Amino acid sequence: MTKSPRSDPLDAVTRDETVCVIPIRVQEDILRARQSSRGAAAAIGFGTVDQTRLATVVSELARNILTYAGTGECRVVSRLTPVERSIVIEMEDSGPGIDDIADAMMPGYSTGGGLGLGLPAVHKLMDHMSVETRPGRTLIQASMARRR
Ligand SMILES: Nc1ncnc2c1ncn2[C@@H]1O[C@H](COP(=O)(O)OP(=O)(O)OP(=O)(O)O)[C@@H](O)[C@H]1O
Ligand SMILES: [Mg+2]
Repeated sequence: MTKSPRSDPLDAVTRDETVCVIPIRVQEDILRARQSSRGAAAAIGFGTVDQTRLATVVSELARNILTYAGTGECRVVSRLTPVERSIVIEMEDSGPGIDDIADAMMPGYSTGGGLGLGLPAVHKLMDHMSVETRPGRTLIQASMARRR
């Protein structure tokens, strides 16, 4: 949950490529971001099941931005190391921040009348997830890796 992919000793030979940056402002942007994540995953050989998992994660995080922050940005990053290929989703907003991350990660916790299942789903579906949040800035990074 807290380990940053950038602390990996393979950093020196890690190649990150930001495949796309999608502003999240309206509902249709969620679809755009979903499609971008699918495309980026397909491009490095992820199967359709993983593509669907990524699209689900992007949907949940983007919907949270629209609901709780208003607007934000989704970045889809393709990461290659000698042993792994990963897709990293970075979702950033300038909203009010998440009050209590531990609460927010708990299934059933919602301040917006939702089911409170979005963030727990992201945690479950991805290999790594990190949350940086304070009033004025929230950055959620989540990655899915496959052996090369
Ligand atoms: N980008 C964000 N900015 C501020 N608060 C957030 C953000 N994303 C999530 N939260 C907080 O974390 C809580 C849990 O989010 P989560 O996605 O798990 O559930 P939900 O959005 O309330 O419901 P669901 O996703 O099941 O419809 C939210 O209710 C909200 O309080
Ligand atoms: Mg949600």
